[in-house]
Amino acid sequence: MLFKQQVLLRQKLFVLGSLAIGSLLYLVARVGSLDRLQPLCPIDGRFGPRGQDEIQLRALQFKRGLLHEFRKGNASKEQIRLHNLVQQLPKAIIIGVRKGGTRALLEMLNLHPAVVKASQEIHFFDNDENYAKGIEWYRKKMPFSYPHQITIEKSPAYFITEEVPERIYKMNSSIKLLIIVREPTTRAISDYTQVLEGKERKNKTYYKFEKLAIDPNTCEVNTKYKAVRTSIYTKHLERWLKYFPVEQFHIVDGDRLITEPLPELQLVEKFLNLPPRISQYNLYFNATRGFYCLRFNIVFNKCLAGSKGRIHPEVDTSVITKLRKFFHPFNQKFYQITGRTFNWP
Ligand code: A3P
Repeated sequence: MLFKQQVLLRQKLFVLGSLAIGSLLYLVARVGSLDRLQPLCPIDGRFGPRGQDEIQLRALQFKRGLLHEFRKGNASKEQIRLHNLVQQLPKAIIIGVRKGGTRALLEMLNLHPAVVKASQEIHFFDNDENYAKGIEWYRKKMPFSYPHQITIEKSPAYFITEEVPERIYKMNSSIKLLIIVREPTTRAISDYTQVLEGKERKNKTYYKFEKLAIDPNTCEVNTKYKAVRTSIYTKHLERWLKYFPVEQFHIVDGDRLITEPLPELQLVEKFLNLPPRISQYNLYFNATRGFYCLRFNIVFNKCLAGSKGRIHPEVDTSVITKLRKFFHPFNQKFYQITGRTFNWP
Protein backbone atom coordinates (compact mmCIF):
# COMPACT_ATOMS: atom_id res chain seq x y z
CA MET A 1 0.00 0.00 0.00
CA LEU A 2 2.78 2.37 1.09
CA PHE A 3 4.72 1.41 -2.01
CA LYS A 4 1.71 2.17 -4.27
CA GLN A 5 1.36 5.64 -2.69
CA GLN A 6 5.04 6.33 -3.23
CA VAL A 7 4.71 5.43 -6.93
CA LEU A 8 1.67 7.69 -7.29
CA LEU A 9 3.49 10.55 -5.57
CA ARG A 10 6.49 10.09 -7.83
CA GLN A 11 4.22 10.10 -10.92
CA LYS A 12 2.54 13.34 -9.77
CA LEU A 13 5.91 14.96 -9.13
CA PHE A 14 7.06 13.92 -12.59
CA VAL A 15 3.97 15.44 -14.27
CA LEU A 16 4.31 18.67 -12.29
CA GLY A 17 8.03 18.86 -13.04
CA SER A 18 7.44 18.34 -16.78
CA LEU A 19 4.76 21.04 -16.76
CA ALA A 20 7.08 23.48 -15.00
CA ILE A 21 9.96 22.82 -17.43
CA GLY A 22 7.60 23.02 -20.42
CA SER A 23 6.21 26.38 -19.27
CA LEU A 24 9.70 27.69 -18.65
CA LEU A 25 10.83 26.68 -22.14
CA TYR A 26 7.71 28.23 -23.64
CA LEU A 27 8.32 31.51 -21.81
CA VAL A 28 11.95 31.66 -22.88
CA ALA A 29 10.95 30.96 -26.47
CA ARG A 30 8.34 33.73 -26.28
CA VAL A 31 10.93 36.17 -25.00
CA GLY A 32 13.09 35.14 -27.94
CA SER A 33 10.35 35.95 -30.44
CA LEU A 34 9.58 39.20 -28.63
CA ASP A 35 13.23 40.09 -29.10
CA ARG A 36 12.65 39.69 -32.82
CA LEU A 37 9.62 41.93 -32.68
CA GLN A 38 11.09 44.85 -30.80
CA PRO A 39 13.32 45.97 -33.64
CA LEU A 40 10.27 46.51 -35.82
CA CYS A 41 9.40 49.62 -33.89
CA PRO A 42 12.07 52.02 -35.09
CA ILE A 43 11.79 50.87 -38.71
CA ASP A 44 8.67 52.73 -39.64
CA GLY A 45 8.75 54.95 -36.54
CA ARG A 46 5.01 54.59 -36.18
CA PHE A 47 4.89 53.71 -32.51
CA GLY A 48 3.68 56.40 -30.18
CA PRO A 49 4.44 57.07 -26.51
CA ARG A 50 5.35 54.23 -24.14
CA GLY A 51 2.04 52.73 -23.02
CA GLN A 52 0.85 52.65 -26.60
CA ASP A 53 4.01 50.77 -27.68
CA GLU A 54 3.19 47.85 -25.43
CA ILE A 55 -0.19 47.32 -27.05
CA GLN A 56 1.37 47.54 -30.49
CA LEU A 57 4.03 45.02 -29.57
CA ARG A 58 1.45 42.53 -28.39
CA ALA A 59 -0.50 43.07 -31.61
CA LEU A 60 2.67 42.52 -33.61
CA GLN A 61 3.45 39.36 -31.74
CA PHE A 62 0.02 38.08 -32.64
CA LYS A 63 0.57 39.13 -36.24
CA ARG A 64 3.87 37.25 -36.46
CA GLY A 65 2.09 34.14 -35.27
CA LEU A 66 -0.54 34.70 -37.91
CA LEU A 67 2.10 35.08 -40.61
CA HIS A 68 3.56 31.79 -39.49
CA GLU A 69 0.13 30.17 -39.64
CA PHE A 70 -0.36 31.55 -43.11
CA ARG A 71 2.92 30.11 -44.28
CA LYS A 72 1.67 26.76 -43.08
CA GLY A 73 -1.53 27.39 -45.04
CA ASN A 74 -3.70 27.76 -41.92
CA ALA A 75 -4.73 31.43 -41.97
CA SER A 76 -7.97 32.39 -43.64
CA LYS A 77 -8.43 35.06 -46.32
CA GLU A 78 -10.34 37.12 -43.78
CA GLN A 79 -7.41 37.05 -41.36
CA ILE A 80 -5.02 38.12 -44.11
CA ARG A 81 -7.26 41.06 -44.99
CA LEU A 82 -7.78 42.00 -41.37
CA HIS A 83 -4.08 42.12 -40.60
CA ASN A 84 -3.00 43.81 -43.82
CA LEU A 85 -0.84 40.94 -44.99
CA VAL A 86 0.44 41.59 -48.49
CA GLN A 87 2.54 39.96 -51.17
CA GLN A 88 5.12 42.59 -52.03
CA LEU A 89 7.55 42.79 -54.90
CA PRO A 90 11.14 42.51 -53.63
CA LYS A 91 12.89 45.68 -52.50
CA ALA A 92 16.22 43.87 -52.80
CA ILE A 93 17.38 40.89 -54.85
CA ILE A 94 20.39 38.63 -54.36
CA ILE A 95 21.29 38.37 -58.04
CA GLY A 96 24.27 36.04 -57.61
CA VAL A 97 26.78 34.64 -57.78
CA ARG A 98 25.98 30.93 -57.99
CA LYS A 99 27.95 29.07 -55.27
CA GLY A 100 28.93 32.37 -53.70
CA GLY A 101 26.86 31.65 -50.59
CA THR A 102 23.54 33.00 -51.89
CA ARG A 103 21.41 30.66 -49.75
CA ALA A 104 23.38 31.38 -46.57
CA LEU A 105 23.07 35.12 -47.20
CA LEU A 106 19.30 34.94 -47.78
CA GLU A 107 18.67 32.75 -44.72
CA MET A 108 20.85 34.94 -42.52
CA LEU A 109 19.16 38.15 -43.67
CA ASN A 110 15.84 36.51 -42.91
CA LEU A 111 16.88 36.59 -39.22
CA HIS A 112 16.16 40.32 -39.37
CA PRO A 113 12.60 41.05 -38.20
CA ALA A 114 12.00 43.46 -41.07
CA VAL A 115 13.05 40.98 -43.77
CA VAL A 116 10.90 38.28 -45.33
CA LYS A 117 12.54 35.87 -47.74
CA ALA A 118 11.07 34.22 -50.80
CA SER A 119 12.01 30.63 -49.97
CA GLN A 120 12.24 29.35 -53.53
CA GLU A 121 14.38 30.66 -56.37
CA ILE A 122 11.69 32.17 -58.58
CA HIS A 123 13.64 32.53 -61.85
CA PHE A 124 11.27 35.18 -63.12
CA PHE A 125 13.71 37.43 -64.94
CA ASP A 126 16.01 34.77 -66.42
CA ASN A 127 13.34 32.39 -67.66
CA ASP A 128 11.45 33.63 -70.74
CA GLU A 129 8.46 31.44 -70.03
CA ASN A 130 8.12 32.78 -66.50
CA TYR A 131 8.78 36.34 -67.59
CA ALA A 132 6.00 36.11 -70.16
CA LYS A 133 3.55 35.39 -67.31
CA GLY A 134 3.90 39.00 -66.17
CA ILE A 135 4.75 40.93 -63.03
CA GLU A 136 1.54 39.93 -61.19
CA TRP A 137 2.57 36.30 -61.51
CA TYR A 138 5.91 37.23 -59.95
CA ARG A 139 4.26 39.17 -57.11
CA LYS A 140 1.97 36.24 -56.35
CA LYS A 141 5.07 34.08 -55.88
CA MET A 142 6.18 36.33 -53.02
CA PRO A 143 5.57 35.42 -49.38
CA PHE A 144 2.97 37.25 -47.31
CA SER A 145 4.44 40.04 -45.20
CA TYR A 146 3.42 43.14 -43.26
CA PRO A 147 3.57 46.37 -45.23
CA HIS A 148 6.55 47.71 -43.26
CA GLN A 149 8.66 44.62 -44.01
CA ILE A 150 10.80 44.11 -47.08
CA THR A 151 10.78 41.04 -49.29
CA ILE A 152 14.04 39.63 -50.61
CA GLU A 153 14.44 36.94 -53.23
CA LYS A 154 17.51 35.22 -54.61
CA SER A 155 18.05 33.68 -58.03
CA PRO A 156 21.78 33.42 -58.74
CA ALA A 157 21.22 32.86 -62.47
CA TYR A 158 20.15 36.53 -62.74
CA PHE A 159 23.76 37.71 -62.51
CA ILE A 160 24.93 35.95 -65.67
CA THR A 161 21.79 36.12 -67.83
CA GLU A 162 21.91 38.70 -70.60
CA GLU A 163 18.30 39.98 -70.45
CA VAL A 164 17.94 40.26 -66.69
CA PRO A 165 19.34 43.75 -65.90
CA GLU A 166 16.94 45.45 -68.32
CA ARG A 167 13.98 43.42 -67.06
CA ILE A 168 14.68 44.22 -63.41
CA TYR A 169 15.21 47.87 -64.30
CA LYS A 170 11.78 47.93 -65.92
CA MET A 171 10.22 46.58 -62.73
CA ASN A 172 12.03 48.92 -60.33
CA SER A 173 14.92 51.14 -61.35
CA SER A 174 15.84 51.89 -57.72
CA ILE A 175 15.90 48.30 -56.47
CA LYS A 176 18.85 47.26 -54.27
CA LEU A 177 21.06 44.56 -55.70
CA LEU A 178 23.19 42.18 -53.66
CA ILE A 179 26.05 40.18 -55.15
CA ILE A 180 27.92 37.66 -53.04
CA VAL A 181 31.28 36.59 -54.42
CA ARG A 182 33.99 34.12 -53.47
CA GLU A 183 37.56 33.76 -54.65
CA PRO A 184 36.87 32.98 -58.34
CA THR A 185 38.83 29.71 -58.62
CA THR A 186 37.25 28.28 -55.44
CA ARG A 187 33.84 29.34 -56.73
CA ALA A 188 34.46 27.61 -60.08
CA ILE A 189 35.47 24.39 -58.29
CA SER A 190 32.39 24.63 -56.07
CA ASP A 191 30.27 25.05 -59.21
CA TYR A 192 31.92 22.00 -60.77
CA THR A 193 31.38 19.99 -57.55
CA GLN A 194 27.65 20.68 -57.65
CA VAL A 195 27.36 19.51 -61.27
CA LEU A 196 29.55 16.47 -60.53
CA GLU A 197 27.31 15.46 -57.64
CA GLY A 198 24.26 15.71 -59.91
CA LYS A 199 25.92 13.43 -62.47
CA GLU A 200 26.96 10.92 -59.82
CA ARG A 201 23.44 10.84 -58.46
CA LYS A 202 22.26 9.79 -61.92
CA ASN A 203 25.06 7.22 -62.14
CA LYS A 204 26.68 9.16 -64.95
CA THR A 205 30.37 9.70 -65.45
CA TYR A 206 31.82 13.18 -65.78
CA TYR A 207 35.07 14.82 -66.80
CA LYS A 208 37.67 15.90 -64.30
CA PHE A 209 37.67 19.59 -63.46
CA GLU A 210 41.14 19.99 -64.99
CA LYS A 211 39.88 18.68 -68.33
CA LEU A 212 36.99 21.16 -68.43
CA ALA A 213 38.84 24.20 -67.15
CA ILE A 214 41.86 23.92 -69.44
CA ASP A 215 41.57 23.76 -73.23
CA PRO A 216 43.55 20.66 -74.25
CA ASN A 217 44.51 22.19 -77.62
CA THR A 218 45.91 25.48 -76.37
CA CYS A 219 46.66 24.52 -72.75
CA GLU A 220 45.10 27.85 -71.83
CA VAL A 221 42.11 28.48 -69.57
CA ASN A 222 38.94 27.38 -71.30
CA THR A 223 36.72 30.46 -71.30
CA LYS A 224 33.92 28.47 -72.93
CA TYR A 225 33.51 26.48 -69.71
CA LYS A 226 30.56 27.99 -67.83
CA ALA A 227 32.09 27.60 -64.37
CA VAL A 228 35.06 29.68 -65.55
CA ARG A 229 32.92 32.32 -67.28
CA THR A 230 30.70 32.81 -64.25
CA SER A 231 33.78 33.64 -62.16
CA ILE A 232 34.75 36.55 -64.44
CA TYR A 233 32.69 38.81 -62.21
CA THR A 234 33.64 42.08 -63.84
CA LYS A 235 32.35 41.03 -67.28
CA HIS A 236 28.88 40.36 -65.90
CA LEU A 237 28.85 43.39 -63.65
CA GLU A 238 29.67 45.66 -66.58
CA ARG A 239 26.42 44.60 -68.27
CA TRP A 240 24.46 45.49 -65.12
CA LEU A 241 26.15 48.88 -64.91
CA LYS A 242 24.51 49.86 -68.20
CA TYR A 243 21.24 49.99 -66.25
CA PHE A 244 22.07 50.62 -62.59
CA PRO A 245 24.57 52.96 -60.92
CA VAL A 246 27.27 51.24 -58.88
CA GLU A 247 25.77 52.63 -55.63
CA GLN A 248 22.77 50.36 -56.12
CA PHE A 249 24.95 47.26 -55.70
CA HIS A 250 26.40 45.86 -52.54
CA ILE A 251 29.15 43.28 -52.76
CA VAL A 252 29.20 40.63 -50.04
CA ASP A 253 32.40 38.73 -49.28
CA GLY A 254 31.23 35.12 -49.50
CA ASP A 255 34.49 33.76 -48.08
CA ARG A 256 34.12 35.93 -44.98
CA LEU A 257 30.42 35.03 -44.69
CA ILE A 258 31.62 31.46 -44.07
CA THR A 259 34.18 32.26 -41.39
CA GLU A 260 32.84 35.46 -39.82
CA PRO A 261 29.25 36.14 -40.96
CA LEU A 262 28.20 38.91 -38.59
CA PRO A 263 30.29 41.82 -39.93
CA GLU A 264 29.19 40.95 -43.48
CA LEU A 265 25.54 40.93 -42.41
CA GLN A 266 25.95 44.24 -40.62
CA LEU A 267 27.22 45.80 -43.84
CA VAL A 268 24.14 44.50 -45.64
CA GLU A 269 21.82 45.88 -42.95
CA LYS A 270 23.42 49.27 -43.47
CA PHE A 271 23.09 49.04 -47.26
CA LEU A 272 19.41 48.14 -46.95
CA ASN A 273 18.84 50.98 -44.45
CA LEU A 274 17.72 48.52 -41.82
CA PRO A 275 18.44 49.07 -38.14
CA PRO A 276 21.14 46.65 -36.94
CA ARG A 277 19.21 43.75 -35.45
CA ILE A 278 21.12 40.60 -36.38
CA SER A 279 23.49 39.80 -33.54
CA GLN A 280 26.07 37.21 -32.60
CA TYR A 281 23.28 35.49 -30.66
CA ASN A 282 21.61 34.64 -33.97
CA LEU A 283 24.69 32.85 -35.33
CA TYR A 284 26.52 29.96 -33.76
CA PHE A 285 29.31 27.81 -35.10
CA ASN A 286 28.36 24.15 -35.51
CA ALA A 287 31.55 22.10 -35.40
CA THR A 288 29.86 19.03 -36.91
CA ARG A 289 28.67 20.98 -39.95
CA GLY A 290 31.82 23.10 -40.03
CA PHE A 291 29.66 26.17 -40.67
CA TYR A 292 27.73 28.83 -38.85
CA CYS A 293 24.09 27.97 -38.23
CA LEU A 294 21.11 30.19 -37.44
CA ARG A 295 19.49 30.75 -34.07
CA PHE A 296 16.08 32.46 -34.02
CA ASN A 297 15.59 31.96 -30.29
CA ILE A 298 16.42 29.38 -27.63
CA VAL A 299 14.12 26.82 -29.23
CA PHE A 300 14.34 27.46 -32.97
CA ASN A 301 17.63 27.07 -34.76
CA LYS A 302 18.72 25.59 -38.07
CA CYS A 303 21.74 24.80 -40.21
CA LEU A 304 21.75 24.94 -44.00
CA ALA A 305 21.08 21.73 -45.93
CA GLY A 306 23.90 19.26 -46.48
CA SER A 307 24.09 20.30 -50.16
CA LYS A 308 25.68 23.54 -48.91
CA GLY A 309 29.29 22.98 -47.95
CA ARG A 310 30.30 20.04 -50.10
CA ILE A 311 33.81 18.63 -50.02
CA HIS A 312 35.56 19.77 -53.18
CA PRO A 313 37.61 17.30 -55.23
CA GLU A 314 41.35 17.81 -55.22
CA VAL A 315 42.49 19.85 -58.21
CA ASP A 316 45.95 19.86 -59.77
CA THR A 317 47.90 22.79 -58.29
CA SER A 318 49.23 23.86 -61.70
CA VAL A 319 45.63 24.23 -62.90
CA ILE A 320 44.75 26.27 -59.83
CA THR A 321 47.75 28.52 -60.41
CA LYS A 322 46.82 28.96 -64.07
CA LEU A 323 43.24 29.84 -63.21
CA ARG A 324 44.29 32.32 -60.51
CA LYS A 325 46.65 34.02 -62.94
CA PHE A 326 43.85 34.14 -65.50
CA PHE A 327 41.34 35.72 -63.11
CA HIS A 328 43.83 38.22 -61.66
CA PRO A 329 43.31 41.13 -64.12
CA PHE A 330 39.52 40.69 -64.05
CA ASN A 331 39.63 40.74 -60.26
CA GLN A 332 41.62 43.98 -60.25
CA LYS A 333 39.00 45.57 -62.47
CA PHE A 334 36.23 44.25 -60.22
CA TYR A 335 37.89 45.84 -57.15
CA GLN A 336 38.28 49.09 -59.02
CA ILE A 337 34.63 49.26 -60.12
CA THR A 338 33.06 48.15 -56.87
CA GLY A 339 35.43 49.84 -54.44
CA ARG A 340 35.69 46.58 -52.51
CA THR A 341 39.07 44.85 -52.45
CA PHE A 342 39.57 41.18 -51.61
CA ASN A 343 42.76 39.31 -50.84
CA TRP A 344 42.32 36.98 -53.77
CA PRO A 345 45.62 35.63 -55.09
P1 A3P B 1 30.52 24.88 -51.03
O1 A3P B 1 29.49 23.83 -51.19
O2 A3P B 1 31.47 24.98 -52.16
O3 A3P B 1 31.27 24.79 -49.72
P2 A3P B 1 25.09 28.88 -52.84
O4 A3P B 1 24.07 28.93 -51.75
O5 A3P B 1 25.20 30.18 -53.58
O6 A3P B 1 24.92 27.69 -53.72
O7 A3P B 1 26.50 28.72 -52.14
C1 A3P B 1 26.90 27.54 -51.51
C2 A3P B 1 28.08 27.86 -50.63
O8 A3P B 1 27.68 28.57 -49.48
C3 A3P B 1 28.78 26.63 -50.08
O9 A3P B 1 29.78 26.29 -51.00
C4 A3P B 1 29.29 27.08 -48.72
O10 A3P B 1 30.69 27.12 -48.65
C5 A3P B 1 28.74 28.48 -48.57
N1 A3P B 1 28.25 28.83 -47.24
C6 A3P B 1 28.41 30.05 -46.67
N2 A3P B 1 27.92 30.07 -45.44
C7 A3P B 1 27.42 28.84 -45.20
C8 A3P B 1 26.77 28.26 -44.07
N3 A3P B 1 26.55 28.96 -42.99
N4 A3P B 1 26.37 26.96 -44.18
C9 A3P B 1 26.62 26.26 -45.31
N5 A3P B 1 27.24 26.75 -46.40
C10 A3P B 1 27.63 28.04 -46.36
